[in-house]
Amino acid sequence: MRTGKKILVSGVKPTGRPHIGNYFGAMKQMVDMQDEYDCSIFIADLHALTSVASGNPAENWSGTELSQATLDLAIDYLAIGLDPKKVTLYKQSDTPQVAELAWIFNCITTMPYLSRAHAFKDSQVKEKETNVGVFDYPILMSADILLPGADIVPVGMDQKQHIEIARDTAEKFNRIFGETFTMPEPLIRKDVAVVPGTDGQKMSKSYNNTIGLFASDEEVLKAVMKIPTDSKGVDEPKNSDECKVFALHKLFSNNGTDADFLDLKARYEKGGIGYKESKEILAHKISAFIAPLRAEREKIASDPEYVIDLLTAGGKKAHMKAEKKMEEVRKKVGLTFNQ
Ligand code: ADP
Ligand code: TRP
Repeated sequence: MRTGKKILVSGVKPTGRPHIGNYFGAMKQMVDMQDEYDCSIFIADLHALTSVASGNPAENWSGTELSQATLDLAIDYLAIGLDPKKVTLYKQSDTPQVAELAWIFNCITTMPYLSRAHAFKDSQVKEKETNVGVFDYPILMSADILLPGADIVPVGMDQKQHIEIARDTAEKFNRIFGETFTMPEPLIRKDVAVVPGTDGQKMSKSYNNTIGLFASDEEVLKAVMKIPTDSKGVDEPKNSDECKVFALHKLFSNNGTDADFLDLKARYEKGGIGYKESKEILAHKISAFIAPLRAEREKIASDPEYVIDLLTAGGKKAHMKAEKKMEEVRKKVGLTFNQ
């Protein structure tokens, strides 16, 4: 039901500890927008199954590990400031209607169309044994987005194609069965669309190049020191646009306006700062940013029952909303007797 506010939907997979790329690319936007939007935020445990139960022994997790990771991610969400009184926070599997809707979407989607999806193509190129879940991942994600009626979906750049697939799917369903789903818009903030990792590529849980969102000071320092740079000496002018260390400084600069950031930029341009010093300043900044989040997380983690209760309540609410929309969908496609 529309409350007057626009609807925001987003999720993160519980497949490892969140990193500062997840935070700046997507999670922060959820916190920043929770007053203005009617937010459905979930832990994408069904999507996680595509990798943790993939049949690949190197990736396999036990069920206990997945449920622990789900609880951990819920604690993370709360620790960064998501307010369960404002947002519906739940785990995706508490709305099994998304799997039902994904099946209906499967039946209006062609194989060649889904074969163009990046994640599937990537899996093929790497000659991984691709499970059907990986192939169908964008359709389940379309269901996640369309079922709660998302107007806006905050994500990082790597998810752009998935939102486009959700839009195509909405358009196709509406064309065949009549106006049913809202067209979602991606919200990809340009300045944080691709946060670089400690090897210079996109930071990702699957590349082992992350700076954990709740990492200890030592872990932060160790990770930052690994970031590759060129071999310019202290006094040589440096190109800040090409430096991955500098790109990370930018995240902590108030959109590039902080005085110490502008000073650092000037030192890059003129010469007079070495990469070691730049990295030490960065590690210090990241640690100072993380410290209160880590403290908040520890507090919340000391009462897992409270978090499970919150998730259960969020799950019930999301389930009820999902069921209402699914009733409309089932009618439209002919799965009930009262069309
Ligand atoms: P990962 O690639 O580490 O497994 P996820 O797929 O769980 O991350 O992503 C969760 C959210 O964080 C998504 O919206 C994704 O686009 C965003 N995200 C992930 N990595 C980055 C990054 N390096 N920069 C910006 N956003 C990112
Ligand atoms: N695919 C997203 C990721 O890897 C997670 C996700 C699943 C999601 N369903 C979603 C994100 C719906 C936004 C909206 O991060």
